[in-house]
Amino acid sequence: MQTREDLVETCTIIIWTASALHAAVNFGQYPYAGYLPNRPTISRKFMPEKGTPEYKELESSPETVFLKTITAQLQTVLGIALIEILSRHSTDEVYLGQRDTPEWTADTEPLKAFDKFGKKLAEIEDRITSMNNDEKLKNRVGPVKVPYTLLFPTSEGGLTGRGIPNSVSI
Ligand SMILES: [Fe+2]
Repeated sequence: MQTREDLVETCTIIIWTASALHAAVNFGQYPYAGYLPNRPTISRKFMPEKGTPEYKELESSPETVFLKTITAQLQTVLGIALIEILSRHSTDEVYLGQRDTPEWTADTEPLKAFDKFGKKLAEIEDRITSMNNDEKLKNRVGPVKVPYTLLFPTSEGGLTGRGIPNSVSI
């Protein structure tokens, strides 16, 4: 790094990656994929060819063939348990724009910048909410009625599908 701009750019990338980007891909794992038949992790069989006994079985009992094809039971249970753990916030989570040490600085300038950042995050949450309610946006308002919440800055602890932690451990 040669300049202050380089430092700002680098810090911005690190903060984005370890906070919002991670939250967007992590905390929806269980809400979106916790029902494995909706999103099997593997296919154990090829699509049966017409005229084979496997094809006949597919025609007569598609559910049985589907269950024989997708992830096996034990791997499914392990996978669901794993993504449930990964999708949980700890009860003492500190979210982006929050501090667990209010005395972190007495300098006015960083305090003001931190306050401005918190207000910007609240605006983003409002914007996401209004986009979720905009019926013109078909990727937000579909038949399933699951609003997008992964980039809401804050959350309660637990399995909420929302909230951007200030930092991540994995
Ligand atoms: Fe993660």
